[in-house]
Amino acid sequence: MTEVGIDGIEVRTGKLKLDLAEEFAPAQGDDPEKYTKGLGLNASSFPDVYEDIVTMGANAAYRLMERKGLEPEDIGRIDVATESAFDHSKPVSTYIAGCLEQRYPGTFHHANKGERKFACISGTQALDDAFNWIRAGRNRGRAGLVIATDTALYERDDPGEATQGAGAVAMLVDEDPDVAAFSVEQGYGSADETDFLKPDQQFPSVDGKRSVQVYLARMREALEDFESAGGDTHPDNFAFAPFHTPFPGMVSKAAVLGYRHAIRGTDVEEELVEEIGRQPRREAFDDDEAYLEAVTEYTDALAETDHYRDWYARTIEPTLTVSREVGNWYTGSVHLARVSGLLYAAEEGMDLTGKRLLVASYGSGAQAEIHAETVQEGWREEVGAIDIMDRVADRTPITFEEYEAIHDVHNRDEETDMEPLTTPEEEFVFDGWGRMGERKYTYVE
Ligand code: COA
Repeated sequence: MTEVGIDGIEVRTGKLKLDLAEEFAPAQGDDPEKYTKGLGLNASSFPDVYEDIVTMGANAAYRLMERKGLEPEDIGRIDVATESAFDHSKPVSTYIAGCLEQRYPGTFHHANKGERKFACISGTQALDDAFNWIRAGRNRGRAGLVIATDTALYERDDPGEATQGAGAVAMLVDEDPDVAAFSVEQGYGSADETDFLKPDQQFPSVDGKRSVQVYLARMREALEDFESAGGDTHPDNFAFAPFHTPFPGMVSKAAVLGYRHAIRGTDVEEELVEEIGRQPRREAFDDDEAYLEAVTEYTDALAETDHYRDWYARTIEPTLTVSREVGNWYTGSVHLARVSGLLYAAEEGMDLTGKRLLVASYGSGAQAEIHAETVQEGWREEVGAIDIMDRVADRTPITFEEYEAIHDVHNRDEETDMEPLTTPEEEFVFDGWGRMGERKYTYVE
C-alpha cells in the first residue's frame, strides 16, 4: 500500500521573546532555576501586536506551499488545530485560506476546511483525518494541509504563566511523503477529565498538578493500547520519541515511565538485572501500596542508570531543543518536538532514512495517542529548508513591562493600544476589524 504521511513542514514562532531567567523570574521573585532546571524552559515566544493564530498559521502555510511549488488546486483540505480560536462558528482555516488566496490566482473553494479541537492533541487528530481521507481514496490526487497554531496564554500569575508560548506548525500530508510515513497501528488513552479547560473563556482554568498526573495516566493507556494493536515499543527501535511538550520537565517525567513499561520482559530489563534488579511484578505483592512503592523505587534507580541516561540523551533530549526556547505551543508542541529531533539529526549528519519515530501526543480533558512513523528518503532536504532556529534567534527580546503590555494586547477583555515592537516584512498581518466583527488580514510586502 502507498505510504501516507508528512511531505513537508514549516514552522513560525511569535516574534517576541521573554527570557524566563532574566526577566520573568526576577519579576516573580523566583529562583531562575525553577524555570530553567525545574521546568526546563529558557524563554517563551509571544506574538507581536500584528500577529495571531491566523498570521502565524498562514505565514507557515504560505512558505510551505511556495517551497513545495504548490497552487491552491493541489490542496484538497485545510484543517486547523487550535485551542485559541476566536470564533465559535467560522473556523480559523477559512481565515487562513482567505490569507493565502491573496497570494495566488486560484482559490481554495474546492477544499474541505475545518477546525479540530481537543486541547493540545488536535494537531495529531487533524493529521489523522488527512491520513484517513487519503487512505480512503477521496483525495483525488490532492494533499491535505494541517496547521497547528496557538497562542498559549494563561491568566497572569497562574502557575502555567511560565510555560506560555506562541507559534504554528504547518504540515503537508500526502502520498509518498518526503519526511515521515504514519503507521496504521495507533493507541489511545482517553477519559473525561477536568485538568485543564476553557468553559467560554479565553484563558484556561488549570489544575496544574493534576494535569501532570492525567498526562502520565492517559499516556500509559495509549502505550498499552498501541501494543495491543501490534505496535512495537522496544525503546531501542526508535531514533526519536517526540512527546507533547508543555514544558521539557513534563517529558522527562513521562519518558522514564514509558521506558520502564517498554523494557519489561525485554533484553534491556535483563541487562539491568545485576545493577538494579528486575521490575517488581504485581503478583509478588500482597497489596497495591507495597507494589507501587517497589515500582517507584525501581523507576528511581532506572533513571540513574547509564543505560537509561544514554537512551534519553539519544532519543528524547534532541526533541526538546526548540521547546526550551519557545515554550508551549499547545497543538503544535508535539510536532515541534518532531522537527526538533529531525533538525538535530540533520545537523549531526545522521542517516535517518527508514528509522522510526514513536510519537506521543496528549491533550488535556483528556486524551493521549501514540503511533509510529518511518522517516522517508527526502527528510534531509525537507528539514534543511526549515528555518525555525534562525527565526527563534531573530526574535526581539522584551522586558517584563513589555510582556505585561503584550499579554494585555492579546487579552480579549482588555482594550490596549500598543505600537508593534517589530516591523512586518513579506508576511500576513492582522489589519483590524470588519463590519461583522471579523478579524481582517493583509499581506505586507
Ligand atoms: N531549582 C530547580 N528546580 C526547581 C526549583 C529550583 N530553584 N524550584 C522548583 N523546581 C522544580 C520543582 O521541584 C518541580 O519539579 P518536579 O515536578 O520534578 O518536582 C518544577 O521545578 C516545577 O516547580 P513547581 O513548584 O511544581 O511549579 P508550579 O507548581 O509553580 O508549576 C505546573 C508547575 C506544571 C503546575 C505549572 O507550570 C502549570 O500549571 N502548567 C500548566 C499545565 C501544564 O502544562 N500541564 C502539563 C500537562 S499538559
